Amino acid sequence: MAAAGTGTPSSRTALSPPAPLPYDVAAACRFVLLVALLLLAGGQVSVGDALSIGVNYGQIANNLPSPARVSWLLRSMRIGKVKLYDADPNVLRAFLGTGVEFVVGIGNEAVPSMVSPAAAQAWLQQHVVPHLRAGARIACVTVGNEVFKGTDAALQAAVLPAVQSVHRALAALGLQGRVNVTTAHSLDVMGASFPPSAGAFAAAALPHLRPFLAFLSATRAPFLINCYPYFAYKDDPARVPLEYVLFQPNAGVADARTGLRYDNMLYAQVDAVYAAIQALGYTDVEVKVSETGWPSRGDPDEPGATPENAGTYIRNLMRRIEMKQGTPMRPDTPVDVYVFALFNENLKPGPASERNYGLFYPDGTPVYNVGLQGYLPPMLVSAAGAPQPQVQYLFFFLDVFICHACKHWVRSVG
Ligand SMILES: *[C@@H]1O[C@H](CO)[C@@H](O)[C@H](O)[C@H]1NC(C)=O
Repeated sequence: MAAAGTGTPSSRTALSPPAPLPYDVAAACRFVLLVALLLLAGGQVSVGDALSIGVNYGQIANNLPSPARVSWLLRSMRIGKVKLYDADPNVLRAFLGTGVEFVVGIGNEAVPSMVSPAAAQAWLQQHVVPHLRAGARIACVTVGNEVFKGTDAALQAAVLPAVQSVHRALAALGLQGRVNVTTAHSLDVMGASFPPSAGAFAAAALPHLRPFLAFLSATRAPFLINCYPYFAYKDDPARVPLEYVLFQPNAGVADARTGLRYDNMLYAQVDAVYAAIQALGYTDVEVKVSETGWPSRGDPDEPGATPENAGTYIRNLMRRIEMKQGTPMRPDTPVDVYVFALFNENLKPGPASERNYGLFYPDGTPVYNVGLQGYLPPMLVSAAGAPQPQVQYLFFFLDVFICHACKHWVRSVG
């Protein structure tokens, strides 16, 4: 302000009437108002126009951009669904007002404690309720991730009681029906998956999955499965046709028992899960793909992990998801997919592929081109560490234009 430094605020208001605003201040105010209006309009457009595909936002890394910048990146790509492995309050806050829908997670280490009703309620009170009150969209809580992949029998036995406990705690908080409660499985729960109609759960998982499916059916919550056709290709590249796993033109595979034809492995895996669920007597539980992806780089013994293959997989997957395609067994249920993952995560243990599943490098440059140019705003911070307001307004302004440009571009290429 022009008068700054000429006295304390109280003496100024007491002694002199407010001076007319200098022209540039008035103009700046009008600019801010205009940007705010554009932002409101842009925010409404963003909800209705979001892509159908979701993305996993993992954070096992020490070099990722701040959640505020990631929120810009995802909105510039029109991503409307994000899955987290925790309930990071910084992420949920950074996305407030964007309309983006979240899946939040309770880590495996906390699963056994959630069996206690008080602990489940406390977790929700801390990690979910304040964000819902502030307007966040949280559609689902996953209690544990891939617990049947390991051999921790105590953890496996705790999953269903923990899921039930979180579900009851939601009801106690008056949130029944607003948030689904489930867990995410790896394909290790399957004992048989080919042909898809012969899909069956592994004997070891069956005693846990039978009552779990009864719960999902009763609460109308989805069965989440992490599917990686890449693993099948990597294990047997000589016999698994690359075209079949990359959604490219190929002869396909017939299921002799049903007469259904599969032109890609992902749909065959999803239908094998549907068949396994149906074998237990449930036809009303939806299967969603909580993770799928392809690494752009791997160790020498990880064939097929290239940027070309990863780009082809994601590009073709996105095309089908945006077509709202169903699988051969469930043609009327569009496959719901969360891509793994948003960023390469440099602190993930295991083979090199594990650190190279990202759509983006941590600096926001795309690892391969999938026809979606994201925009990661530059990191501009004031001395105090908070983003400068002028810079934020500039970003809002840029966002509106970039989002609209992307939208038209995606339409024209799609
Ligand atoms: C819960 O899951 C069901 C089945 O997938 C889905 O139809 C419903 O929309 C989900 N609820 C929320 C709040 O997203």
